[in-house]
This record gives sequence, C-alpha cells and structure tokens, in this order.
Amino acid sequence: MKNIMLIAPPAAGKGTQAEMVVKKYGIPHISVGDILREISKEDSELGNYVLETMTSGKLVKDEITYQLIENRLQQEDCKNGFIIDGFPRNIEQALKYDEILQKINQPIGNVILIDVDPKTLEKRITGRRICEDCHAIFNINDKNQAPQVESFCDYCGGHLYQRSDDNIEAFQNRYQTYLEKTAPIIKHYEDMGVLVSVDGTQSMEEVFQDIVHIIQGSEK
Ligand code: AP5
Repeated sequence: MKNIMLIAPPAAGKGTQAEMVVKKYGIPHISVGDILREISKEDSELGNYVLETMTSGKLVKDEITYQLIENRLQQEDCKNGFIIDGFPRNIEQALKYDEILQKINQPIGNVILIDVDPKTLEKRITGRRICEDCHAIFNINDKNQAPQVESFCDYCGGHLYQRSDDNIEAFQNRYQTYLEKTAPIIKHYEDMGVLVSVDGTQSMEEVFQDIVHIIQGSEK
C-alpha cells in the first residue's frame, strides 16, 4: 500500500473520501484539521490560539504542525501506508514534508487534488453537520445526505453540530487562504510528477472510484 495525500479547497470532500479509503484499504487517516480541533478544546494558551485562528479561517503557525506530523507519521500504524489531508497547506510546509518523509524513509506516494468550484463549496460548507459522538458527516443542503431526523445522527443517535468555521464569512477567508497559500503547492507536486486531479463535483461514489483507480494504477 502506498501513502496518499489529498489536496483540496475547504469542504471539497477530503474527510469524506479519506474515510472511504480507510474502510477499503485499512490504512490510518491523518487529518491535521481534526488534530488541531482536538487541541483547540484544551483550556491553555495554545488551545485558545488554535481555536481563535481556526474560527477566523486563517492557518495556524507552521511550527505547531511540524512536530505533530513528524510524531504521527512515525507511529507503528503508518508503516504500511496512510492517507493525509490538511497538510501541507503552503509551500514551506510542503518543503518540510519532503524533509520529514526523507528523514523517516517514506515515499511521497500519490498526491490527489480534488477539484471543486467555489459555489459548490459554499453550499457544502453551510450545510455540513457532524455527529458529536461518532463524527459521521451529513449535509442538510443535499437531500441524499441529510439526516433522517433533524439534528440527530442516523447511525448512533448522537447530536449533530455545525463547526465554528462553517459559515460564509469564515469560508471566504478559508477559500482565499487556499488560493493564496495552498494552491501554489500544486505546482510543487506537478513538478515532482506525483499529482493527479479528480473532479470533486461528482457524487461521492464517483469521486471514490476515481481515487481507487489512481491508487490501483500506481500499484501496477
Ligand atoms: P480542515 O479541517 O482541514 O478544513 P478544510 O480544509 O477547510 O476542509 P474541511 O474539513 O472543511 O472539508 P473536507 O474537504 O474534509 O470536506 P468534507 O469531506 O467534510 O482545517 C480547518 C482549519 O484548521 C484550517 O482553516 C486552519 O485554520 C487549520 N489547519 C488545518 N491544517 C492546517 C495546516 N496544515 N497548517 C495550518 N493550519 C491548518 O465534506 C464537506 C461537506 O460536503 C460534507 O457535508 C459532505 O457530506 C459533503 N460532500 C463531500 N463530498 C461530496 C460529494 N462528492 N458530493 C456532495 N456532497 C459532498
């Protein structure tokens, strides 16, 4: 199994696709956003800083992410591959990631860009709801993904919540940050010859089939 990286604008479906990959291939999902959201719950200077930064839609300081990524990638469950989303998010992080992979002797693997237009992203972001217990993702703006009972999880009955950065204002900041900081890393991976794009406006299943095709194609 190879390592997989997902690059995409906010709410393009990174988390959704990563979980589908986890189910099919049994590799761990490293979501830097999820790790930072856990840190943001801590009642500490760091926790408060991370919460404030994430809510505004800006990126947290690079240094905070580096140690966290290096430690996570060295854990036993990453030995046979992993899927990472939310890192790297700017060119400095991309260069650092190359350095970390070299240090721990891991290949870059597949870098997959999920491409989605801003109008679609806005609709997905404002409609996203997450179960606070099992973390299942729903969308009230899409009848195929809406929960059967409003505000409650179909799978475990847990309460659904909306992320503090899932509103139009934060979305505009997050999208702008993506264009300014994250989009330049696309060229970095194109130059390395490892980047493949998929059309993220397709159904979840269709996007997943494209991703499986890329993974299987690179294993031949
Ligand atoms: P993060 O949590 O990574 O947020 P993001 O990149 O904005 O991505 P999202 O989690 O919003 O969306 P997603 O692409 O996973 O979409 P999902 O699958 O949920 O980061 C948050 C913040 O943390 C950043 O703003 C920053 O502050 C900080 N941060 C993180 N990493 C950092 C780093 N490296 N350095 C510095 N700061 C960092 O799908 C979205 C919705 O769409 C769902 O409702 C889903 O059901 C629906 N959906 C998904 N796919 C489809 C489909 N094909 N068709 C229809 N609906 C779909």
